Amino acid sequence: MLLYKDIIKDDNLILREKSEPVSLPLQQEDIEIIEKINEYLINGYNDEIIKQYDIRPAYGLAAPQIGVLKKMFVLLATDEKGKVHHYGVINPKIISHSEEKAFLPQGEGCLSVDRDVEGLIHRHKRIKTVVQLFNFDTKTVKEEQLKLEGLVAVIFQHEYDHLFGILFYDYIDREKPFYIPENSYSVHIEQKNEAK
Ligand code: NI
Repeated sequence: MLLYKDIIKDDNLILREKSEPVSLPLQQEDIEIIEKINEYLINGYNDEIIKQYDIRPAYGLAAPQIGVLKKMFVLLATDEKGKVHHYGVINPKIISHSEEKAFLPQGEGCLSVDRDVEGLIHRHKRIKTVVQLFNFDTKTVKEEQLKLEGLVAVIFQHEYDHLFGILFYDYIDREKPFYIPENSYSVHIEQKNEAK
């Protein structure tokens, strides 16, 4: 079982490498990788497991973050309307996006970045993607179009960037880290422990 200590941190240049496409049909070793990533994210939603093991919750985790330079990630998050999005993503492509942007008001975090980084990241508010979607029950893939917006679109873009060696803080404007462009909108997220 994958633990937080197993996740590669940003002092390791492997996170700056580009990932290779995953060959299809899926090989057993790739199935095991995506299942391991998925298990970590699911564990992050289980308070008992978090108490017992070295796990930090996250909305997504990409293969390069466990040292595998292949185009795979898992996203597991609840959107602004309460809908759960759970995707095993293989060989994703973002084929179009809105001009409007979206940002998380508290900034972004990453399991590979073991510190708070202040500043806002303005991403596309809506994206249209084509992915080979992994089915965790049948262990097969199927090409799907995913149209995502708001929080889930932001997470998707964050994980997608990991496949190209990009980290979230690369986008933060050093001069004006909290600048909000006219066409960028705040994403509302329910937080368990809201800091006031
Ligand atoms: Ni990340």
